[in-house]
Amino acid sequence: MSSSPRLPDARGPLTEALFDHLQGGSPRLPAPDPEADDPLIGDDFHLALHVAYDLAYRGFEGIDDGYEWDLDVLRFRRGLEDAFETALRAESRAQPSEVGHVDARATLTRIATEPVGPSLSTYVEEHATRMQLEEFLIHRSAYQRKEADPHTWGLPRLDGPAKAAFVEIQADEYGEGRPGEAHADLFAVTMSAFGLDPTYGAYVGALPGSTLATGNLISLFGLQRRLLPCLIGHLALFEMTSVGPMGRYVQAIRRLGGTGEAQRFYEVHVEADVRHAEIARDRLVGSYVDEHPEHAAEVVFGAESLSAVEGRFTAHLLATWTADQSSLRERILAGAA
Ligand SMILES: [Fe+2]
Ligand SMILES: [Fe+2]
Repeated sequence: MSSSPRLPDARGPLTEALFDHLQGGSPRLPAPDPEADDPLIGDDFHLALHVAYDLAYRGFEGIDDGYEWDLDVLRFRRGLEDAFETALRAESRAQPSEVGHVDARATLTRIATEPVGPSLSTYVEEHATRMQLEEFLIHRSAYQRKEADPHTWGLPRLDGPAKAAFVEIQADEYGEGRPGEAHADLFAVTMSAFGLDPTYGAYVGALPGSTLATGNLISLFGLQRRLLPCLIGHLALFEMTSVGPMGRYVQAIRRLGGTGEAQRFYEVHVEADVRHAEIARDRLVGSYVDEHPEHAAEVVFGAESLSAVEGRFTAHLLATWTADQSSLRERILAGAA
């Protein structure tokens, strides 16, 4: 089994109670309080959910693997998941035209092409300092060092042409089984090229809730089978909105003096995701909604949620950077404000 990261520091009542329990304390795990900690971006909320989920990925150094299925942890996780999902659905209901009978492919294409506020990749391409680019890599490491894994939970829940399409995308994400070629491994190369620590989970303690929410969203959709259509919508929009930004990150790395190997993660995506976008929209979503038209609105909800969560992630980075501040919770890069 791969090595496990260290448990980060607790940062509020939810993580304090969870980490105490994981380290052998009695299970006094509170329910989340949406008034005190926003289920969409709360720092304590999303670290607690991230740790609860990561028990199902790599676990944590010194924490008994049995806690993955500990009933108190699962009950606690469900409380967080329900609050997160409720908040996401409240936003989604703001668009009543999406409810009811939906053409999922056309709606996803519209979401992928409509402007959604300031572009993070354009800022990084044109304006980011080297330190901001490194912060960007640190933010993305929480998901990209396990890239593809949260979507893979969907595979055993599918069959037929939709499963074949999903497998084709995931096979590329895992580098067709070639050691070191999985996209998660290529991201480690990019991190190392910038002098960052590519160890799985190395920077989780520095990440705000708005960043951890991007990964938690996929685990939410991946780990609950009833949310499979949301997972499909998430993956499809993910692939459909990848090529432009990935190309801009290549340019940013070039402008800031990054090496060819630092660019490779992004170059691979520019090439692969043209095809992945077509497979995801036409064969994955297409086959799935042809067979399950009643789930089309849920496919769209999954895509909308990705767009909303990414919007908050972008807003935080741009707001802090344009105010000359670090976007991380801790100053871990030399020169950070
Ligand atoms: Fe990828
Ligand atoms: Fe892809």
